[in-house]
Amino acid sequence: MEIVYVENDIEGGKKAFEIIKKGIEDGVKVLGLATGSTPETMYQEIVKSDLDFTDMTSVNLDEYVGLGAGDEQSYHYFMHDRLFNHKPFKENFLPLGKAENLEKECERYDEVIATHPIDIQILGIGQNGHIGFNEPGTDFGVTTHVVDLTESTINANKRYFSSAEEVPSQAISMGIASIMKSKKIVLMAFGESKADAIQKMIEGPVTEDVTASVLQNHDHVVVIIDKDAASKLTIKH
Ligand code: F6R
Repeated sequence: MEIVYVENDIEGGKKAFEIIKKGIEDGVKVLGLATGSTPETMYQEIVKSDLDFTDMTSVNLDEYVGLGAGDEQSYHYFMHDRLFNHKPFKENFLPLGKAENLEKECERYDEVIATHPIDIQILGIGQNGHIGFNEPGTDFGVTTHVVDLTESTINANKRYFSSAEEVPSQAISMGIASIMKSKKIVLMAFGESKADAIQKMIEGPVTEDVTASVLQNHDHVVVIIDKDAASKLTIKH
């Protein structure tokens, strides 16, 4: 793993944007994208830029079960609000949280990923070490699946809802096996609440208890972290 230390999320967003920019110059066509607060500064950089994305495809990591594109807390809404409405892409894919048959929706999404192999996957990390919504204990072999969100994730994400009870208890998430097929992975983490997860991801054993630790087995991972997120690492920098 290549580790890039930054001052804060603003600088982190700029670094991630630079990687995407360089990627596009080198022929990248498919971006795997994440929601949540972590990639927000990167999306701001993309929106500010004059880079053309009309030839680009995006494939998002996840969506809450039960929320449709019009729901303000849905990841569809988030992505359009932060990025797609301001920077048009050729195509944008997200799992459909309101699909009638969730199993079929997972199969459809696997097909989307298979036909649009991800060149650069952007990731945040959960406080419990999840990537996508691959919660602790998720089999590294799974592809798109329906996830029961853990209490830690529901608590971390309740800030977007009026109460914890309103946070959907399930999500559809790209699986670890699909994330690992991405040609390059850029994971960002900012703030002290991520320090434990970052330490385990980088220095701990590769274990399904900390799903991000699987990234130790990927050859092209860039980790962009600020001082607080790096504070529990024992390696010097
Ligand atoms: C979001 C996602 C999650 C988040 C993670 C961190 O699409 O898949 O893994 O990246 O929960 O969330 P934030 O960035 O809000 O701290």
